This record gives sequence, structure tokens and C-alpha cells, in this order.
Amino acid sequence: MNKALLHPLAKPLLVGLCLLPLAWLVWQAAADQLGANPQEALIRELGNWALRLMCAVLAVTPLRVQFKLPAMARFRRSVGLLAFLYAVLHLLAYAVFDMGLDGAEMVRDIIKRPFILVGTLTLLLLLPLAATSFNRSIRWLGVARWQLLHRLVYVAALTMLLHFFWMRAGKNNFAEVAVYAAVVAVLLGWRLLHRRRLAPKR
Ligand code: HEM
Repeated sequence: MNKALLHPLAKPLLVGLCLLPLAWLVWQAAADQLGANPQEALIRELGNWALRLMCAVLAVTPLRVQFKLPAMARFRRSVGLLAFLYAVLHLLAYAVFDMGLDGAEMVRDIIKRPFILVGTLTLLLLLPLAATSFNRSIRWLGVARWQLLHRLVYVAALTMLLHFFWMRAGKNNFAEVAVYAAVVAVLLGWRLLHRRRLAPKR
């Protein structure tokens, strides 16, 4: 398995797989297949894929350690950047379709609706992680500081859940939120249990 994960085609294949939902959404939008409210469907689906890929990023280390697959580590950055891409497209779709690219209206909406504020906070937390996801930034920041900064992903996972919860609370619909909260709880709980094993060796 580890050998297959090290195959030169493994990463492009994974990236292609993660981009399939985006291609499918674009195709559905072009074919007018997104339902009665296509703009809302687009915003929501992009948000859903950002959420799913964030869960996938958090799953990489537990899977790597539990199944003794060190090669999995090479996928974390790509999946993280793809989660960020979906989150940015989610924001862009909201800015274009819901707000008509009106900056002042967006600021008013962010202040008025707490779940939008928390979504914005989540994206702001992910921004420095995406910006420093390149090898050069590890050298520039130093390993310890880079690792500390990248712990922001755990905060972003919690604010992402809060954003989702708050949005669905307005509709009294908690089933999916509960599933994602359970997944994040297991993945973060695993890290807490194994924190000694994961601590950088000095
Ligand atoms: C500036 C940042 C963000 C803004 C302005 C924003 C805005 C929104 C809006 C307006 C909706 C509701 C759409 C509707 O009512 O139909 C929504 C839903 C959602 N957002 Fe965000 N969001 C942001 C960041 C994020 C991030 C970073 C994530 C995940 C990593 C995320 C995940 C979701 C999810 C999962 C939903 C629910 C989709 C559903 O109900 O199926 N959002 N967001």
C-alpha cells in the first residue's frame, strides 16, 4: 500500500479526484441542473466540499499512524490547499450571487449574521496556513514556528463546525452537523490521545 502511495501518479490522481466535485458542479450549473435555486445550491455545495476536505486533512495523520503508512504525509498539503480552494470559491459564490459584489453590503451582512462572521473567521484562519504551505516557508519560519502556526487548523476545524451549526440552527436541521461534529471530535480526540507520540523529537 505504501508503495502505491509513493507512485508518481498517486498525487495527481488524488488532486484530480478532489477536483471532480468542482467539475461536476460547473457541469451541472452549465446544464441548468442545480435545482430551483442554482445560486444557493452552488454556494452550499462549495461550502460542503470545503468542509469534507477539511475533515480529510484532519484524517491524514491518524490514518498514517494507525495504518503505518508514512507515504500518506505527502498528500496533506495538496488536500489542505484544495479545501482552501473550495472555501475561497464558496466565499466568491456568496460575494457574487448573494451580495452582488457589493463590499459595503457584505460588511453589513457579516456584522448582522453571526454565522457569516464565523465563516469569515474560518477563512481568515486558513489563509496563513495556505500561504505558508510551501517548503520555502518552513525554512523561512523555522520548523517549530511553522508547526505552531499550523496548529491553527484545529481552531479552524472548530470554527468551521460552528459556522455550519449556526447556519443549520436557523433551519432547525442538525442531523448532518452532528455527523461532521462526531467525525471532527474523533479526529481531534485521536490527536489528544496520541499527542506524546506525535510530539516532534528533540
Ligand atoms: C468568508 C467566508 C465565508 C462566508 C462569507 C460563508 C458564507 C456562507 C453562506 C452565505 C452560507 C449559507 C448559504 C445558504 O443560506 O444557503 C454558508 C453555508 C455553509 N458554509 Fe460557509 N462561508 C464562509 C466560509 C466557510 C468555510 C471556510 C467553510 C468550510 C471550511 C464553510 C462551510 C459552509 C458549509 C458546510 C455550509 C452549509 C452548506 C449546507 O447547508 O449544505 N464556509 N456559508
